[in-house]
Amino acid sequence: MKTIFSGIQPSGTITIGNYIGALKQFVELQNDYHCYFCIVDQHAITVPQDPQQLKQNIRNLAALYLAVGIDPEKATLFIQSEVPAHAQAAWMLQCISYIGELERMTQFKDKSAGKEAVSAGLLTYPPLMAADILLYNADLVPVGEDQKQHLELTRDLAERFNKKYASIFTLPDIKVNEVGARIMSLQEPTKKMSKSDANQKAFISLLDTPKQIEKKIKSAVTDSEGIVKFDKENKPGISNLLAIYSIFSKQSIEELEKKYEGQGYGVFKADVANAVISELTPIQERYQNLVESTKLDDILTNGAEKANKVASAMIAKMEKAMGLGRH
Ligand code: AQP
Repeated sequence: MKTIFSGIQPSGTITIGNYIGALKQFVELQNDYHCYFCIVDQHAITVPQDPQQLKQNIRNLAALYLAVGIDPEKATLFIQSEVPAHAQAAWMLQCISYIGELERMTQFKDKSAGKEAVSAGLLTYPPLMAADILLYNADLVPVGEDQKQHLELTRDLAERFNKKYASIFTLPDIKVNEVGARIMSLQEPTKKMSKSDANQKAFISLLDTPKQIEKKIKSAVTDSEGIVKFDKENKPGISNLLAIYSIFSKQSIEELEKKYEGQGYGVFKADVANAVISELTPIQERYQNLVESTKLDDILTNGAEKANKVASAMIAKMEKAMGLGRH
């Protein structure tokens, strides 16, 4: 059976972008792959986080993984900082990364733009991400489109290590969905939807109430044409809502375009909101039962134990290959 690794940052409450681009795929893939799903809290601290809030976000994200359908009997769910091998491997991979290639990463450029104090961690985020994936010899990494560049760098680092030291890493393939690989901000539909967006109206979080969802979709930025048609270039707002609706209603974009011919945006937006609410309501109910449970702690403890075993064996191989310690 092939192996999958993927992670999500607890840098806020996950959005329908994270859900569509990543989590939803995970649920389908867990039946056919050996899966490691990780709450990448060490990635989250590359930008400032409030410690109490981060702690809560980690727990919320773990509960949401399970609430959307991740089965701990099938997949290993764990917290990155509870598996020290991630930071250890990241250091070794940083030492074979070039500053120039890290500075070229779009996420680094976006997140550091205009900031006075930029953490070194923001620059070295990609070698940590490479470590996450390579420790488990993942064959496949399901992510949203925004992570494509980091995945390419992961492959480069694996290849570089394999050539220079010892051929121990599998080169992972990327898996990006066709529809929904990049859900856009509801307020600036040319920018991707992000859970850490300062404008709450820009994203729908998995824990938003039906009222909040209705309001956010109603105020989503569109255009004045009044035609429900998929055209990313000229109608980014409507195209984004169509992509969201198509995924949540399991109807194709063409079917939806036909359905709303001549109807304007009011009815369309109300139906998009209802489709989102219908999908999120049962998830939120399951989440409520899990988030404060001891069952959640047991699952995470067990997941960390399993991940530690696999990851520490890879650390030994990496150190031996690089000549570290007394291996
Ligand atoms: N807008 C999106 N559309 C589709 N997929 C998305 N992903 C993120 N945003 C979208 C995918 O979700 C997974 C988890 O992402 P992450 O938490 O590791 O980091 P990110 O990509 O930086 O996500 P955010 O929401 O934008 O977080 P912040 O605001 O903290 O930077 C990944 O597979 C990602 O591709």
